[in-house]
Amino acid sequence: MSHAPVAPYPALRFRRLRQADWIRRLVRETVLTPADLVWPIVIHDGEEARIPVTSMPGVDRLNVVEAVKAAMEARDLGIPLVALFPNIDSARKDAFGSEALNPSGLVPTVVRAIKDAVPEVGVMCDVALDCYTDHGHDGVLVDGVIRNDESLERLVEQSLAQARAGADIVAPSDMMDGRVGVIRQALEAEGFKDTMILSYAAKYASAFYGPYREAVGSSKALQGDKKTYQMDLGNSEEALREVAADLAEGADMVMVKPGMPYLDIVQRVSSTFRVPTFVYQVSGEYAMMRAAMQNGWLEEERAILETLSAFKRAGAAGVLTYFAPQAARLLG
Ligand code: PBG
Repeated sequence: MSHAPVAPYPALRFRRLRQADWIRRLVRETVLTPADLVWPIVIHDGEEARIPVTSMPGVDRLNVVEAVKAAMEARDLGIPLVALFPNIDSARKDAFGSEALNPSGLVPTVVRAIKDAVPEVGVMCDVALDCYTDHGHDGVLVDGVIRNDESLERLVEQSLAQARAGADIVAPSDMMDGRVGVIRQALEAEGFKDTMILSYAAKYASAFYGPYREAVGSSKALQGDKKTYQMDLGNSEEALREVAADLAEGADMVMVKPGMPYLDIVQRVSSTFRVPTFVYQVSGEYAMMRAAMQNGWLEEERAILETLSAFKRAGAAGVLTYFAPQAARLLG
């Protein structure tokens, strides 16, 4: 990229364009709007309307009725898309994540309810088995090993169950090799030609998923870590290969995850491929900011908007964030 020649001071004074709000707004390069936000919603299959998630102050697990209300709120706030994450009764979990395939399970039920009540809001579903397995892994576990190809068969069935319920976007977050291709094939074969795939293409094995695992109830269950399938934090070139592979297999959009510690990856992916690149400001990022805000150590509104704007500046088309409704209200 070439730059305009820089005049020497005092011909050039950078501060001229910073002297008042109106001029700062006029020359700002990137702008955040509610249309850039995706709201991750945790749902549960119990009776209670809302159950607070201890490690994520301000985030509740919602029952079906509350989830529909949240989607209505998203519509009213101008948030285009909600993403569903289920917390199911542990009695329904097994080694193979069978409940993920249940056409009348929690996720398909909530998808149908939202698409009935608020069809103008997009609904995205996570494709992975971790919310449904008694070991907390995203794939099928056999003899201590997460089996790639055995997992694919289940992930395909899970995606189809979501598409049949009316999900607009399926989002494989499992990091098994080849999953985007087989999911795309299956969707086409069943006539779901407009179902979008947003792949968690560059998803790193991260400590920042901790609070989420409490939210969906997989933290106590999780045996070991996810390093044999999620990416190693030291790698950047590999992220580009992951994205290239998912696009070649039929992903419409890609994601980088986590967010703030991986802004370099967001920037590289979006500038290299020039496809809609999303970024997930994950539960640990949310929790750490909330904790500081509750202590009065961070200015709440500015800190939220600053982090979300930084994702846009790095090249993201949109951001998954638990701050979505609050941020949308702030943005008016
Ligand atoms: C797994 C999944 C995870 C998140 C979204 N989907 C956690 C994991 O990989 O262990 C994390 C979201 C967050 O931390 O906010 N399918």
